[in-house]
Amino acid sequence: MRANKPAILGGTPILSRDVPVTRPTVAPCGPEFHRVMDRVLNSGFLTKGAELEGFEREVAAFIGVRNAVAVSSGTMGLTLTLRCLGLLGHAVMPSFTFMATGHAARWNGLEPRFADIDPHSFAMAPGATASAITAETALVLAVHPFGAPCEVDEIESLCTSRGIPLVLDAAAALGGCYPDGTRIGAKGLAEIFSLSPTKPLTCGEGGIIATNNDDLAKELRIAREYGNPGNQDSVLLGLNGRMPELSAALGRHNLPRLPEWLAQRREAVTRYQRNLIDTAGLTFQRIPPTAQSTYKDLCVMVDRELFGLSRDMLAGALQQEGVTTRRYFDPPLHRQAAYRQWAVPRGVLPCTESVAEGILSLPLLPDMAMDLVDQICSAILRIREHSAEISGLSAHGGADE
Ligand SMILES: Cc1ncc(COP(=O)(O)O)c(C=O)c1O
Repeated sequence: MRANKPAILGGTPILSRDVPVTRPTVAPCGPEFHRVMDRVLNSGFLTKGAELEGFEREVAAFIGVRNAVAVSSGTMGLTLTLRCLGLLGHAVMPSFTFMATGHAARWNGLEPRFADIDPHSFAMAPGATASAITAETALVLAVHPFGAPCEVDEIESLCTSRGIPLVLDAAAALGGCYPDGTRIGAKGLAEIFSLSPTKPLTCGEGGIIATNNDDLAKELRIAREYGNPGNQDSVLLGLNGRMPELSAALGRHNLPRLPEWLAQRREAVTRYQRNLIDTAGLTFQRIPPTAQSTYKDLCVMVDRELFGLSRDMLAGALQQEGVTTRRYFDPPLHRQAAYRQWAVPRGVLPCTESVAEGILSLPLLPDMAMDLVDQICSAILRIREHSAEISGLSAHGGADE
């Protein structure tokens, strides 16, 4: 009997070693890649060289966009894009996002105005976006949550009819597709990707600004260079946002493998869904039909009443089984200390609040074995079977609430 008990109730943990929630995906680095590294290190160009040019060209072709401007991080890409637009006023954005979305607006003096999300897709809802737009709105900054496309056409037509630029925080979405089959990256005025270690494509740290606007791309290349157009007479308050050559080389090394890695991630997600689809109290992020998410994170919503445990209790019990989880994005921006000034009362963003409270990211690793997915699902199911006992533990201070 003990064997079937969850670890939190004294059973044997399902996993003998802790499984992380994610791990960087990197293509094997054989002699060919070492030769590239040697070439870079001996070229005399550790930045602004042939690797950067090649990477930008290859990413632009992969996405199907005229320009891909590589920078040192996704945060830098967002910040420099907003700087180039030189806007004043309010930025309408979701509160349910990573802090960098808001920070980029604040570093440019823009005031956040939070729009609520759809409770199933977790993306900013077009209706809520329309309600948040006022005469002071300078920009709409939408997000593709966890790599699944937001309702971009609806939001874009709202922006176009009001003459407001739309910028898309696509940090997690490189390789994802819109419902029309086109790759994420060519909509709005610009779409900004992150290439940090947790992203589907990484180059250590980095970012890409994808845009079909040639003037913006030109200005961004100046902005990432301190605002210096080359004559030492800065034309805007740029930053050092350059991507190093070694990072660009790693990005080029990884890019050809991205479609295969995304297919592996989808296969693992399908397995999770198949195992857990009938579990009352657990629901998966809804992806628009015919769209493709990168599944940068695999998120489930935990309904305390139906599952029998809160999200935090489930996370605590899973940790005892050796399963690491994350709570993205909790707290949402409007509950974070740096956004105190823009806090809104409970009930104003009801879907943001309930999703942030219920969401849990489960492990999704490169080349994940299906057995491992099955073990994690078994852990979830046996925890659920014993939810009443675990809940009782929590009432006596034993479980992570
Ligand atoms: C939605 C979102 N925006 C922006 C960023 C920032 O990207 P970076 O870490 O490359 O600066 C992230 C990073 O995870 C993100 O998830």
